[in-house]
Amino acid sequence: MSTVISEQLFKEAKELFPGGVNSPVRAFKAVEGIPLFMKKGEGCQIWDQDGNKYIDFCCSWGPLILGHNNVSVRNAIVEAVDNGTSFGTPTRAENLLGDLIISNHKYIDKIRFVSSGTEATMSAIRMARGFTGRSKIVKFDGCYHGHADSLLVKAGSGLATLGVTTSAGVPEAFAQETIVLPLNDEEAVKSCLQHYKDEIACIIIEPIPANNGLLIQDPQFLHFLRKICTEQNVLLFFDEVISGFRVGFEGAAGLYDIQPDIITFGKIIGGGLPVGAYAGSKEIMSQISPDGPVYQAGTLSGNPVAMMAGYAALKETLKEGFFESQKERTEYFVNAVVDYAKSKGYNFSIYTVGSIFWLAFSENIHIRKASEIDADSMQYFKKLHKALLERGVYVGPSGFEVGFISEAHTKEYLDIAIEVFKESLDIAFN
Ligand SMILES: Cc1ncc(COP(=O)(O)O)c(C=O)c1O
Repeated sequence: MSTVISEQLFKEAKELFPGGVNSPVRAFKAVEGIPLFMKKGEGCQIWDQDGNKYIDFCCSWGPLILGHNNVSVRNAIVEAVDNGTSFGTPTRAENLLGDLIISNHKYIDKIRFVSSGTEATMSAIRMARGFTGRSKIVKFDGCYHGHADSLLVKAGSGLATLGVTTSAGVPEAFAQETIVLPLNDEEAVKSCLQHYKDEIACIIIEPIPANNGLLIQDPQFLHFLRKICTEQNVLLFFDEVISGFRVGFEGAAGLYDIQPDIITFGKIIGGGLPVGAYAGSKEIMSQISPDGPVYQAGTLSGNPVAMMAGYAALKETLKEGFFESQKERTEYFVNAVVDYAKSKGYNFSIYTVGSIFWLAFSENIHIRKASEIDADSMQYFKKLHKALLERGVYVGPSGFEVGFISEAHTKEYLDIAIEVFKESLDIAFN
């Protein structure tokens, strides 16, 4: 496997961009390699600049639920571009995507389009504060909600402590407004709400936490959050940037049948182009300008090309049996790999929900908190990652990240990937 061209491009990129990349997780730091520069994608495969071909389980970190270069999405983009790329006025494309989503998602009444998941969560936090007149928010350790200041905060020691920032440049005063709790811990939530009574605007959670392993919550915990939020007049905020349109059209809200007060979307909603959104009831969304006092705007928000890409992608997911097929193929893949690992006695498991999976170097099948992940086990991931790449399988370059299966991952390709995983596990564990 030659990576000469990627190496050269990375050398050039390091002169241009911090760390040579425009988003840190692309940098291969966790696996101590150099990032591969991709040239094209088709279906479930990608090709790098050196001509190496991979079955891709990163899928652009989630947006590509139909795989690369899907024909419906591509045609929709080309047709939209034919009419121009941006107007700064409303377009019919926004109505099409907005209506498609709202008509098929019973947990939301109104939506506002933005251009990324970060923008969606940042704006929705402002909306929650504006609506409630309260300033503190609660988040959970192990959940990522984009890089807005108040969300780049991690817990200090002990429960219900005020946050400390996880990034330089975030003023301590901002972090003080964010309380970080452990996931799946009812007592921690109860004591926090008691302590900060009438100060908390919202509890934000990835209902399927998928940014620090796949920390599948006890459904009972999510129902408990709904109940206690209602009792305490705190807004329940589901960040469904990953889970939205992934575990079902209605995301985790639909999977667990929980009505959140606010939902954010990203990734799949834009069909591979930059779109995010936040949504909620008419009453809460009426806070947003120009209807209400909470200001939020965007030059390229609702961009017609991106809207049509999202519209084409989401229409495909609404076809009969789409999500069932996604889940079925994912389980087929996961079971084959896990059965092999078990037969060999490897300390390895794969967590999965819908078409999301996480490679866990542990047999504990109930890791629900960030603190329960053994950081030392990542040495196995590093070896596995390298062996997979060398054999033509691409997974994101961090053992804390999840993988995704797209519509284009047919059983034929999954069978190839299963064999590669088996060989690569043998290397990682020997
Ligand atoms: C749950 C969640 N929220 C928010 C974001 C931020 O989205 P973006 O990267 O589009 O800004 C991400 C990104 O991975 C995410 O996984």
